[in-house]
Amino acid sequence: MSGRWPVPASARAVGHEARSTWLLSDVPATEQLGTVLARGCPWSETTARVLHLSGELGAGKTTLAAALLRELGVNEPVRSPSYALIELYQLGTRIAAHIDLYRLNSPNELATLGLRDYLTGQTLLIIEWPERGGSAVPKPDLHLQLETLPVRSATASAGSEAGGIWLNDARAALTTEVKN
Ligand SMILES: Nc1ncnc2c1ncn2[C@@H]1O[C@H](COP(=O)(O)OP(=O)(O)O)[C@@H](O)[C@H]1O
Ligand SMILES: [Mg+2]
Repeated sequence: MSGRWPVPASARAVGHEARSTWLLSDVPATEQLGTVLARGCPWSETTARVLHLSGELGAGKTTLAAALLRELGVNEPVRSPSYALIELYQLGTRIAAHIDLYRLNSPNELATLGLRDYLTGQTLLIIEWPERGGSAVPKPDLHLQLETLPVRSATASAGSEAGGIWLNDARAALTTEVKN
């Protein structure tokens, strides 16, 4: 899927602006968004939280994911999961799964990753290139569209009530929101 992510009616119904855009004028700005999303992640005991990161090669998806993972407590260098497709981090009782579907050959191949095993509580799935996995990709609580032109920016859309809370937290923490 390309272009704007549809915002489900459920996100609109919970009484918040379901979309925000921030300028990401330099690498620290992209990292700050990752840090803020880590701090505000609405962890659940029963349900995985899902963050989609869309945008062209070089848009800053892995930069953002790495900052998010560091803030969650990952001390080792964050590897891009471009070849392995998935990197797992056990963080105390929590699990973060960093997934990059760029090299997925077909949506069918997604089944071999066993993502279903991670659709459980205390888990966060960060998915780069979610479009490549088609409808088998877990639906996002929050979707980020990273752009480089005309300026670097991130547009966040909530896909669930939890995502709306997540988005509002980020909106409160970041000051560079722009209208879109
Ligand atoms: N806001 C930004 N401003 C300038 N450069 C950035 C920004 N965010 C990321 N970059 C740089 O862009 C390059 C590609 O970033 P990366 O996170 O690997 O992109 P992606 O995962 O979307 O392909 C890296 O060199 C990174 O430092
Ligand atoms: Mg990447």
